[in-house]
Amino acid sequence: MALFGKTRKRKQFLFSDNPNRKTLHKNLEFTATEQYKLIRENLAFTVPADEKCPIIGVTSSLRGEGKSTTAINLSYVLAEKGNKVLLIDGDLRLPSIAKNMYIESTPGLTDLLMGKGASLSDFQSAYLKNWYIIPSGNIPPNPSELLGSHRMETVLNELKEAFDYIIVDLPPVNIVSDAVSIANYITGMIVVIRQNYTEKKELERCFRQLQLSNVNVLGSVLNDASSGGGSYGKRKNGKYYKYYRYYKKSPEETQS
Ligand SMILES: Nc1ncnc2c1ncn2[C@@H]1O[C@H](COP(=O)(O)OP(=O)(O)O)[C@@H](O)[C@H]1O
Ligand SMILES: [Mg+2]
Repeated sequence: MALFGKTRKRKQFLFSDNPNRKTLHKNLEFTATEQYKLIRENLAFTVPADEKCPIIGVTSSLRGEGKSTTAINLSYVLAEKGNKVLLIDGDLRLPSIAKNMYIESTPGLTDLLMGKGASLSDFQSAYLKNWYIIPSGNIPPNPSELLGSHRMETVLNELKEAFDYIIVDLPPVNIVSDAVSIANYITGMIVVIRQNYTEKKELERCFRQLQLSNVNVLGSVLNDASSGGGSYGKRKNGKYYKYYRYYKKSPEETQS
C-alpha cells in the first residue's frame, strides 16, 4: 500500500546491540512473555467485537513507567499470533521506539501527518513480516495539535484498512495533553502502572484526567511487578522474574 507516494529504504540495525533488549519481545523471560500473551488474550474481551482494527493507545501517569516497553511487547505478541500489527510512536515529545527497535526515526508519523512521501513497506520490521513499526519522524513544535488533528484521523483511518491491530505509544497523561487529544480517534487506552514507582496520587490524577476527557480505558497493566501479592513469577537464581499483569478495572475502582 502506497501511503503517500514515494518509497525510501529504512536502515535496520542489529537488535543485539540494543541496551534495552532484555525488556523487549523475543529476549524476554518466559514469565514476562506469558504475561504479555495474557494481556493479548484479555484484549479480546475488552475491545468491541465488531471493531475491524482496534486502535489501542498505551499511556501512564508519568515517564519511565513502561509505556514504550508495553507497546512494543504487546504489538509483538499480537503479531506473533499471526495478526497484521502496526506499532506507532505517538510520543512526539520523547520518542523512543526507533531507539528501542534500533531503526531510523524517519520517515515516521510526522512525515505522514505532514503529507510527506512514505510507503507501508518502509515500516515493515525486520523481525516479523506482519509487524510494522512507524517511528515518530522529526519532532514537531506542536505535538498535541498534531495528534488531535483531523489529519491524524485521516491517517489512522487509512492505516486501519491495512491492519488487524494498531498500537500507539503515547506520552504520559499527567505531563502533557497529547494522550487525551488523540482519544477521539482510538478504540481505547491501556494504562501502565509500574510497581514501586507509580505514585498513588499521580495515578488518581491520571484516571481523573482520562475520565474527564471521556477516554475509554480498556484496562491497566502492572509492569515490573516483584514477588509477593499473588505473583505467578517463577523463582530462579534467588529472584523472581519480572512479570506483567493486565487488569480490567473501571477508573472508579482504581481511584478507590
Ligand atoms: N518490567 C521491566 N523490567 C525492567 N526494566 C524495565 C521494565 N519496564 C521498563 N523497563 C525499563 O525502564 C525504562 C523506561 O521504560 P519505558 O518503556 O521507556 O517507559 P515509558 O515509555 O513509560 O517512559 C526503560 O529503560 C525500560 O527498558
Ligand atoms: Mg516511552
